[in-house]
Amino acid sequence: MQIRAGIITISDRAARGLYDDLGGPALKQAAAEHGWQVAAESLVPDEKRDIQNAIREMVQQGCHLILTTGGTGVALRDVTPEAVRELALRELPGFGEVMRAESMKITRNAILSRSLAVVVDRALVICLPGKPSGAVECLGFVAGAIPHCVEVLQEAPTSC
Ligand code: MTE
Repeated sequence: MQIRAGIITISDRAARGLYDDLGGPALKQAAAEHGWQVAAESLVPDEKRDIQNAIREMVQQGCHLILTTGGTGVALRDVTPEAVRELALRELPGFGEVMRAESMKITRNAILSRSLAVVVDRALVICLPGKPSGAVECLGFVAGAIPHCVEVLQEAPTSC
């Protein structure tokens, strides 16, 4: 199936125009390389309500896969996991486990990322770190499981 993806950059500074959004375009390119159609893009500040609204909008637009970048760390403004968990039907802990374990081979700071994946309605939402290279690396670690996950989520609820 053709995977329709949405990409959300979560960053106070990029949303204020203090610096360019590099994470969103980096993920867009990675998504295209995986053969996924990028159907929606958004840039929001580190506010739970803005994050949740952007996800809800992309779910309504029919995105199968929503990738977020940013707000997974330990700073007080990092609220992506809290925002996303409030929308989640279920969490898929394997994604976060693999992203952290593999990223630890690249940087010791990977332990600081609270990267995660959840199901919202029928969409798979994967929350990646804010650093563009980190987001693309983490996506690469879990990409192999995405097509099957997306397909199962499109099937009847009983098939899960
Ligand atoms: N994971 C990978 N693969 N590569 C990275 O460069 N950066 C880490 C971590 N995970 C990184 C990574 C750093 S420095 C931080 S602070 C956390 O992700 C959280 O980033 P965020 O708050 O921007 O989401």
